[in-house]
Amino acid sequence: MDPRDTLSATHPNPLRDPRDRRLPRVPEPCALVVFGITGDLARKKLLPAVYDLHSRGLLPTDFVLIGFARRDWSTGDFEDMAREAARSHARTPWREEVWSRLAGNMKFVPGSFDDDNAFDQLAECLGEMQDSRGIKGNAGFYLSIPPSAFPVVLKQLQRTGMADNGRSGGWRRVVVEKPFGNDLESSRELNDLVDDVFTASDVFRIDHYLGKETVQNILALRFANQLFEPVWNSNFVDSVQITMAEDVGIGTRAGFYDQTGAARDVLQNHVLQLLALVTMEEPVEFTPDAIRTEKIKVLRAIALPEDLAQYAIRGQYTQGWLAGERVTGYRQEKDVPPDSRTETYAAVKLDIETRRWAGVPFYLRTGKRLPRRVTEISILFKKAPHLPFSKTDTEELGHNQLVIRVQPDEGVTLKFGSKVPGSQMEVRDVAMDFLYGQSFTESSPEAYERLILDVLLGDATLFPQAAEVEASWRVVDPMEDFWQGREPAYYRAGEWGPKEADEMLARDGRSWRRP
Ligand code: BG6
Repeated sequence: MDPRDTLSATHPNPLRDPRDRRLPRVPEPCALVVFGITGDLARKKLLPAVYDLHSRGLLPTDFVLIGFARRDWSTGDFEDMAREAARSHARTPWREEVWSRLAGNMKFVPGSFDDDNAFDQLAECLGEMQDSRGIKGNAGFYLSIPPSAFPVVLKQLQRTGMADNGRSGGWRRVVVEKPFGNDLESSRELNDLVDDVFTASDVFRIDHYLGKETVQNILALRFANQLFEPVWNSNFVDSVQITMAEDVGIGTRAGFYDQTGAARDVLQNHVLQLLALVTMEEPVEFTPDAIRTEKIKVLRAIALPEDLAQYAIRGQYTQGWLAGERVTGYRQEKDVPPDSRTETYAAVKLDIETRRWAGVPFYLRTGKRLPRRVTEISILFKKAPHLPFSKTDTEELGHNQLVIRVQPDEGVTLKFGSKVPGSQMEVRDVAMDFLYGQSFTESSPEAYERLILDVLLGDATLFPQAAEVEASWRVVDPMEDFWQGREPAYYRAGEWGPKEADEMLARDGRSWRRP
């Protein structure tokens, strides 16, 4: 029997929708402590996700939310802010009764990260909750804070014994938001630091792309079907493109972004994770360890091209037009140094040195201020070795292609040749579409809903392990070293990146797919 069966039976949540067929994934009574509760991520993603989980009946009735921040706030002020955040950004409809249950179990602890007193109070607060709300010592600590603040907070959790499973009598887990370091060396330091305070299996590194339904569907598509896997290799695949494009600029994040750039911000994590899921071998079972083992193997097999000047392109947007509006260039964004060389676009060609993938180029690109927000993976198949039709009849026949649309318009498209109606044997490309919205009545949960729930359940399947993070830095570090001190290429806001990125593909006789 799944131990969670007993949990859900013992801690039923009256809000739970009995039609939810995926019973019983309700965590034990517990607390979630969020550091950086007043930040953007907490307001826009974490608090709404907690509300949505509660609204779906997926949190235990004895669930306590504790906010920690340097504000002179009472618990009432915190509740007001949290309510406003959840109301504005929640996915599920607003219901007062859902909120009031949650609000009754919220606490706020004011203080700065170097304030021993504040952390002692936090420990006390958790102790009180243990007695009054029956959370049995179970608590997750969510570090929604700048990486520079990790060491001090971790030390405080250690000093006060809050990180200690044994002492708490329940489980203690920590959630670390990306970026996991700035390069291989700093990520190792960070991993050592976290592992020194928490048991490795209690560390949850969030890469929110892994919480997206469509990203999880990559494994279902590949390993639940017979159709795709036989052709998923260099015998049949010509090339693979992964695009993560955003139309937004850097907003108010100049301080973070200018130190980070596109490659460290999203290529090192989200994009390489997508690549790992598309290229990994089948796991022996669907468990965190088995999946991570396969991801690590393939991440370690990634090889950068020798000629980085031609095959690792970075760009920066200049002033341009998007959706009919004039937008400013990166260097003119608020708080960006006028001579900044930070990239807002990165494209690279990678090889995977395994029997399955040798010889197949993987083209990855990401950028801000591109024409639209779209993330997709496109598998381009080789052309048929022989066509028994006349050349003119197949002029408009391209490669077979499978496109996994991560967002928006979540779904999968298969492109193949079909006869054009008429007396000729003319063959042209057509597309067959699977759209989540049309095939399922359930709407997809937000990535953070899924991930927060998994942390509370202790399910680490969707969380990258330290070794994966380090393997990804091994890919990005040489690119960063190469780019150091060089001018980026430029592209106008609203264009699909710099011309150098188009030239990179043209050199290989290919072109970027227009998503
Ligand atoms: C974050 C990056 O991890 O992902 C942001 O730091 C980026 O720069 C964001 O905008 C994109 O996430 P999503 O879910 O909107 O594609």
